[in-house]
Amino acid sequence: MIAFSVAPMPDLYPLVRPLLRALPAEAAHRLTLAALSSGFGPLIAARDPPSLGQTLWGRSFPNPVGIAAGFDKDAQVPDAMLRLGAGFAETGTVTPRPQSGNPKPRIFRLYEDAAVINRLGFNNQGLDQTLARLRARRHSGIVGVNLGKNRDTADDAADYLDGVRRVGTLADYLVINVSSPNTPGLRDLQRRDILGDLLTQVVATRDDAAPGTPLLVKIAPDLTPAERADIAALAPQTGIDGIVIGNTTVARPSSLRSAHAGEAGGLSGGPLFAPSTALLAEMYRLTDGKMPLIGVGGIASAADAYAKIRAGASLVQLYTALVFQGPALIGRIKRGLAEMLRRDGFSSITEAVGADHVLASADQPRSRRQA
Ligand SMILES: Cc1cc2nc3c(=O)[nH]c(=O)nc-3n(C[C@H](O)[C@H](O)[C@H](O)COP(=O)(O)O)c2cc1C
Repeated sequence: MIAFSVAPMPDLYPLVRPLLRALPAEAAHRLTLAALSSGFGPLIAARDPPSLGQTLWGRSFPNPVGIAAGFDKDAQVPDAMLRLGAGFAETGTVTPRPQSGNPKPRIFRLYEDAAVINRLGFNNQGLDQTLARLRARRHSGIVGVNLGKNRDTADDAADYLDGVRRVGTLADYLVINVSSPNTPGLRDLQRRDILGDLLTQVVATRDDAAPGTPLLVKIAPDLTPAERADIAALAPQTGIDGIVIGNTTVARPSSLRSAHAGEAGGLSGGPLFAPSTALLAEMYRLTDGKMPLIGVGGIASAADAYAKIRAGASLVQLYTALVFQGPALIGRIKRGLAEMLRRDGFSSITEAVGADHVLASADQPRSRRQA
């Protein structure tokens, strides 16, 4: 019997968790980034089981478990995240010019709810820094870049086009983020007429400046049914390559128990799992399974990741559960996924994508056609 490389490694996170918990959330995050960039963590990411690998957009993903945007806004530690076993890492959101974001405190941990509320407001060091760090990378592995606009820009579209032009050839994929709740007016860019125009422009710029770099759009879980249908209809027309579903929510489920539940900002983690998975399934159905989707929101276990994949996600991403469970979660999810695929008779992730749907369309879904 071959021992897979996703065999458990000693989990040291429980030792550092009390320290991180004692610090304000943002300080704990800075310390985590500093530790990762100084080389803490396992030295070698072992090989993943072949069943977890897939080729999407011509890129070879060793496993479908990625790190969501916001963890590494300035591309400081993408390779450290890959070393921890992630199949891909998404840096950003980065805006053309550096900006400091909203006043602190602006990240709140809701322990009782396994959730976080943040109202960071795209604090980041700007495109120049991201560009320099991506240029200096010595490692391979899939790193996407999530692009935003400056809060005080005079021209929203120009900011995204600037990002596509400047990092397009260095990124393995690009994400147009029109869904963070902490930049006034940003989510209005999801409206049909505005979004159609914006995506058409970014696709044209990509085709010119970075042909072949996959371009995705990241949407909010708070869209109305009409907005969801609009986006599903226009996404294929604009020529984008996929959708990230989705960002944090401004909704506050009545189930929240933490004292911080009333803080303003975007809610992530456990309470986001059900609504974001429902939106994912709906977008898979509305796009007839033909557009690759990245499922993100509340994943805290292998079963959660598998549910997203069966609902239609080709790839998944995590953030909030890493805060509570530490990096060993990545290996746990991969081991569990490999086991669930085997149990259900799938030889690869690709076969399981969208397995919960019975498509009315006569067309075979993309996942089947690729096999
Ligand atoms: C502290 C924090 C900062 C975030 N910053 C960004 C960001 O800059 N850009 C973005 O697209 N999403 C950002 N997100 C959203 C995540 O990428 C993800 O979509 C969301 O948290 C849901 O996943 P989760 O429940 O696994 O955390 C952020 C989330 C958190 C918790």
